[in-house]
Amino acid sequence: MKDDISRVRLSYGRAIAKSGFLPRFYDIFLASDRAIARKFVNTDLEKQQGLLAMSVNMVILFPQENKIAKNAVGRIRKSHCREGLDIEPHFYGLWKSSLIQAVSEHDMEYNPQIEGSWRKVLQIAIDHIAEGH
Ligand code: HEM
Repeated sequence: MKDDISRVRLSYGRAIAKSGFLPRFYDIFLASDRAIARKFVNTDLEKQQGLLAMSVNMVILFPQENKIAKNAVGRIRKSHCREGLDIEPHFYGLWKSSLIQAVSEHDMEYNPQIEGSWRKVLQIAIDHIAEGH
């Protein structure tokens, strides 16, 4: 897992350094399901991109028992629960595949090993957030 996290951190660094990465993620994610687009009708997507950039870092550090990441992911779990934003668990698969698609287009060193690490690392925080629904 340690190697997976290092690989993902480097890949994320390369992807986010390229312009268009975050808007591309939202284009893919919002187009993946009409119900997802509906959730974001009143959202300032530019502001949301900044929040996403930060929270992906937290999601990546979460499997290492990082305290700050644990708090941040715990907050997202609360805000996304049934009584809050009410994000149904099946939407997290689309979030994950949209992010990986955007990374694959922006990380010039992207390869199957990096993809495997992304899938493994993201799933841990996703399981934790979705279980809180
Ligand atoms: C692991 C995956 C995800 C992460 C890390 C994440 C992160 C965040 C963060 C940091 C915020 C802003 C602060 C907050 O409310 O907590 C937020 C808001 C939001 N998220 Fe997520 N999210 C994830 C998955 C999803 C999914 C699958 C949906 C499905 C539609 C979604 C929909 C929303 C909406 C609608 C908002 C509120 C936007 C607004 O303020 O108008 N999120 N998310």
